[in-house]
Amino acid sequence: MSITKLVVVISGSGSNLQSIIDSIKSGHLKATIEAVISNKPNVKGLQRALDNNIPAITLPHGDFPDRQAFDQKLQDTIEGFNPDLVILAGFMRILSPEIAKHFRGRMLNIHPSLLPKYPGLHTHQRALDAKDKEHGTSIHFVTEELDGGPLIHQQSFKIEEDDTADSLFEKVQKLEHQMYPEVIGRFCDGKLKLVKSEVITLSAYSQPTPSHNAP
Ligand code: GAR
Repeated sequence: MSITKLVVVISGSGSNLQSIIDSIKSGHLKATIEAVISNKPNVKGLQRALDNNIPAITLPHGDFPDRQAFDQKLQDTIEGFNPDLVILAGFMRILSPEIAKHFRGRMLNIHPSLLPKYPGLHTHQRALDAKDKEHGTSIHFVTEELDGGPLIHQQSFKIEEDDTADSLFEKVQKLEHQMYPEVIGRFCDGKLKLVKSEVITLSAYSQPTPSHNAP
């Protein structure tokens, strides 16, 4: 089976990037990361890339006259690495419809809410404010809709009385670090694809271990 080439796009800490790197290193994920691209300079995720001999590229969005100019440069930079799949991992910018269309079916995003609830920011606080009984995270194919393309996989947990935005953040991240490499692995194995607007997935996902729900 051929190795899937990934480009990972970030804006921050890159803990999801790290989970993907670790999954490749352990042999679970048959993929290579060709480059990590950040729209924010000096973030931890770029250092994680460099520590693993992965090209780390900064494209500060403020250097571009408008969204379209930035997105065009982002698209060209990604395509320069000829990836099979583009992974948005904590990339905190809205993409224009053109770039979303260009990468349709080969760009994934992870978002810290049970979509379609809470696209955008402050998802953990919004779940608390709404007195939701559960919270979680979602992975979807990227389309023109903000945090809203066809859903691939979602995992949830019960919100406890003493949960705060910080504790929800931590619980969500634990789930994400397990989920994202697994979903990417499906794509790499040819078991996940977007056909028209339908997500085709060929086997069941694993369930989170009980510790993910532990306070
Ligand atoms: C993740 O929790 C991810 O779900 C979220 O940013 C965090 C990045 O963490 N993404 C979004 O909110 C996208 N709308 P990381 O940099 O440590 O991987």
